[in-house]
Amino acid sequence: MKKIAILTSGGDAPGMNAVIRSVVRTAIARGMEVVGVVRGYNGLINGDLIPMDARSVSDIIQRGGTMLCTARCAEFRYDEGVEKAKKTCIENGIEGLVVVGGDGSFRGAADLSAKGILAVGVPGTIDNDISMTEYTIGYDTAMNTVVEMVDKLRDTAQSHDRCSVVEVMGRNAGYIALNAGIAVGATYIITKEEPYTMNDVIQKILAGKKNGKHHFIIVVAEGIGNSEQIAKEIEQETGIEARATILGHVQRGGSPTLRDRVAASQLGHYAVELLEKGIGNRVVGFKDNQVVDYDIQEALKMKKQFEHKLYEIANEISF
Ligand code: F6P
Repeated sequence: MKKIAILTSGGDAPGMNAVIRSVVRTAIARGMEVVGVVRGYNGLINGDLIPMDARSVSDIIQRGGTMLCTARCAEFRYDEGVEKAKKTCIENGIEGLVVVGGDGSFRGAADLSAKGILAVGVPGTIDNDISMTEYTIGYDTAMNTVVEMVDKLRDTAQSHDRCSVVEVMGRNAGYIALNAGIAVGATYIITKEEPYTMNDVIQKILAGKKNGKHHFIIVVAEGIGNSEQIAKEIEQETGIEARATILGHVQRGGSPTLRDRVAASQLGHYAVELLEKGIGNRVVGFKDNQVVDYDIQEALKMKKQFEHKLYEIANEISF
């Protein structure tokens, strides 16, 4: 393989730049040419490409976001879009592609591979909701941001004897809520994966109050419902003043943590090794902390376990 391309797709995640650096430097070290595709699959459809050399990825390992920019590309869901992307690849001598993103982005990588442009997916999303891998790039940084923010909220909740209801990202998954929730000492973690009723939440707060607790943190996973409404109900039923905070996109930014930089460097390197061997239609990730790869269609069918034990521990020690 003489020339490969790299793109970032879907929501940005801290560590995507570290993947770009790893892919570019590994490819150059193995004698391949590399181009960057701007704004995800849109750039492939429109031919928006930039040549990458070793220096083009200097000074990015520590930066959040993605230097190539990213997008969710509706046109790529249709065959016409995939055909246009294939044409760009052929016209520019691109034989292989690394796609950094989530499940939706991997479907695109499978479609391109089926048309002869070998593509390898690298999981990059703060949500950690990709079944084939134990870890997705950006997750650790996002959770550390949540911890930092909730620690600040705790200061003010403690000062006012309040309940702080904090909504965290995760799209439809509660992994950020669970892990950040245990790390901030949440009184209750509300996620879709574990059954709960508002009465359970209220009883837990009342039991804590009886036990001498004066302030409370409730972590709510995105997609559960209206956090303002949850705060209102808590205030009405417990008599404790409650405030809701939706952390939002602050969770997507910031300098990647050590874990994200290392994982990004490993996965980017491995993705290029696969392309070098002429292998595509794969997605790379971690199993038992080891770097592994799977067929994309197989990977998309996998199911992820929720860490129920961790949820039980969080519950048992939060009174
Ligand atoms: O997938 C990452 C994520 O931040 C989710 O947690 C969230 O649901 C979604 O993206 C938000 O998307 P957007 O940036 O398009 O608002």
